[in-house]
Amino acid sequence: MTNPVSYSLVDDIGVISINNPPVNALSHAVRSGLLEAIEAAGRDDSRAIVIQCEGRTFIAGADITEFGKQPLDPWLPQVVDAIEACPKPVVAALHGTALGGGFEVALGSHYRIALESARVGLPEVKLGLLPGAGGTQRTPRLAGARTALDLMTSGTPVPASTALETGLIDRIVAGDLPAAAIDYARELADRASGCRRTSELASPDEDAQLFADYRAELSKKARGQLAPQKIVDCVEAACRLPFAEGSAVEREAFAECMASPQSAGLRHMFFAERAAARVDGLPRNTALRDIRRVGVIGAGTMGSGIAMNFANAGLEVSLLEVDDEALKRGLKTIEKNYAGGVKRGKMSEAQAAETRARISGTTDYASLAGAELIVEAVFENLELKKDIFAKLDEIAKPGAILATNTSYQDVNEIAAVTGRPEDVIGLHFFSPAHIMKLLEVVRADKTADDVLATCMKLSKAIRKIPVVSGVCYGFIGNRMLKGYGREANLCLIEGGTPETIDAAMQGWGMAMGPMRVFDLAGLDVGYKARQGLPEAERGDPRAFAIPDALVEMGRLGQKSGAGLYSYDPETRDYRFDDESKALIEAQAGKLGIERRDIAADEIVDRLIYALINEGMHIVEEGIAQRPSDIDVVYVYGYGFPAWRGGPMFYADAVGLATVYERICEFRERFGSDNWEPAPLLERLAKENRSLADWADSRD
Ligand code: 3HC
Ligand code: NAI
Repeated sequence: MTNPVSYSLVDDIGVISINNPPVNALSHAVRSGLLEAIEAAGRDDSRAIVIQCEGRTFIAGADITEFGKQPLDPWLPQVVDAIEACPKPVVAALHGTALGGGFEVALGSHYRIALESARVGLPEVKLGLLPGAGGTQRTPRLAGARTALDLMTSGTPVPASTALETGLIDRIVAGDLPAAAIDYARELADRASGCRRTSELASPDEDAQLFADYRAELSKKARGQLAPQKIVDCVEAACRLPFAEGSAVEREAFAECMASPQSAGLRHMFFAERAAARVDGLPRNTALRDIRRVGVIGAGTMGSGIAMNFANAGLEVSLLEVDDEALKRGLKTIEKNYAGGVKRGKMSEAQAAETRARISGTTDYASLAGAELIVEAVFENLELKKDIFAKLDEIAKPGAILATNTSYQDVNEIAAVTGRPEDVIGLHFFSPAHIMKLLEVVRADKTADDVLATCMKLSKAIRKIPVVSGVCYGFIGNRMLKGYGREANLCLIEGGTPETIDAAMQGWGMAMGPMRVFDLAGLDVGYKARQGLPEAERGDPRAFAIPDALVEMGRLGQKSGAGLYSYDPETRDYRFDDESKALIEAQAGKLGIERRDIAADEIVDRLIYALINEGMHIVEEGIAQRPSDIDVVYVYGYGFPAWRGGPMFYADAVGLATVYERICEFRERFGSDNWEPAPLLERLAKENRSLADWADSRD
């Protein structure tokens, strides 16, 4: 194996160069090479040293693939300490993204120079960790406790300019970074600036209130999470203790986080997200279709947000509506959303105006004839969608991709009305479409490989996380939601209240409890869908008695001011009122249900195990390519806590045998109509295997 770290002398300056594609992660070989090189450079004739990276970025962190395995010497803290101890000035030359352990290498260096486009950060918290190579101790010494806390608890990288302002780096250059870094190192040697060791800087003086405020804020913002609180402990230690003692606090906290199930879940999500972008069996070199102009049909809730995604990515968008009035409404929503973005500091007035100008409105299908991609987002009605696709078949140019944003309808049936089913695909965005990260890419039976590959690539351009789904009712996400929603409603009629059910689920980690979600989405949506079905297909009547009764009395959810909860029209504050309480009790009485107290753990198990059970069907049927794709759908589309790793990872963490037994218990108590263990779950539980093991055995 070639050494990823090389060392050379450029006249009087020693240059250590790291080359470990794709992101120069600090693998064991890089750590060893770096330690060897810094020691050699410390001994030779060089007057100062530069540490730089080849390729697209400076070191982007520790090698995450090595986490959870036996750690090998040298550890990163040893390497960073050796860099700092070097008797000659060491300059880190940063480009791309200097992240995590990579930025800690830079903090161990005596000086930092960065390309103006570089970003630096300590994103460990996103992996359920904290900086473990001195970052929690050196950052506050350079930039103060508050900046350090912001950087580490958010995990969000900052641009070089901000890093310069806060004292995290020393110089910014445009153009030739390697040459500028060598010049800087020589200048430091000439000036006899010496080695400026961050660990020797005085601790910042911070009063205890800052840490108390931070802890309180994080207990709300990062509810239930270990790493953010531990970061505060470490930064407080940096302010109170000498460097060596603060480092010991960091070491212990890092080890605790690394061993936590939360970090295991978040690390799983890191790789799951990247795996989801890969389509099994699709040749890597599949030629892509060129997309520059996009048509969007329907400017309602979804269409307006979908149009914004493409405009934000620099594409020209034609937005089509039935008439001028509907069009005006849609364009107004878009204006409002961009104005909101400006107000929140997401973009400047000028950027918003320029982006907004890429969206033009139309009521004429002929305006879509030049589009390479057309996304339909009209009412959820199969016949209407088929009519539209038949029309698109007439007007769209050859090779245009025809996509539907349907939530439930059969994409094969929609494709079949065209003479070009190979060009048809589902692109299922989530609401609000310009914000939510998830995109289900629905591969119909005849969807061409290049159509799928183009949509996967395009999703990255519009900053979405794509997950491929096969065709079935509700695809991955909404199909799984059915059992979850059913159990939430059953818990409600059996004895829960909107408050106890939401508290149980939010306490467990869901971003929003199911009752608030129902109110937000509108109880009338499910009501209308049920009315369209024959009675026998509507499901368990006990599960929809309450929502149906609420709709029939005009309580549709947030939009009508009341649903399961009632809402303050000004503040949107919500409360469980007497009318809702009486209605719930009356419906239970009507169905002869004797209400009982339901414990939070029963609520959680029923809702989450219903999700898992359906997920098992979905992986076995091949609707999802792999179990981890389901985790990505739930974390990015449905507010499932990332630190639990998604429902399928969680099932493995609990143990499939335990999940299976609990589902069997529910079958005993509640009947097999709602609770029949999925065959794959039963098989793996009996074989004492995990889902991850099953997925690996198929590769
Ligand atoms: N370790 C191992 N592999 C990594 C990695 C890392 N730190 N960072 C990225 N990769 C891999 C990805 O898995 C991906 O592999 P694949 O092509 O096989 O799927 C490949 O590198 C490219 O990554 P992306 O697709 O994410 O490329 P982007 O250009 O979109 O993003 C990035 C680049 C901003 C560097 C992004 O990859 C990233 O955020 N990486 C993680 C950074 C991070 O969390 N660093 C901290 C690690 S923890 C740490 O350092 C602990 C220390 O304090 C002790
Ligand atoms: P909506 O009712 O807000 O908007 C639909 C728009 O389509 C309306 O503005 C209507 O005027 C327009 N329209 C109807 N017929 C048309 C035609 N023939 N030509 C052009 N425009 C026409 O509906 P929403 O919520 O935006 O849903 C649209 C689609 O997106 C549906 O298929 C829905 O299932 C799906 N979806 C909805 C989500 C949501 O949370 N609202 C989430 C994901 C998908």
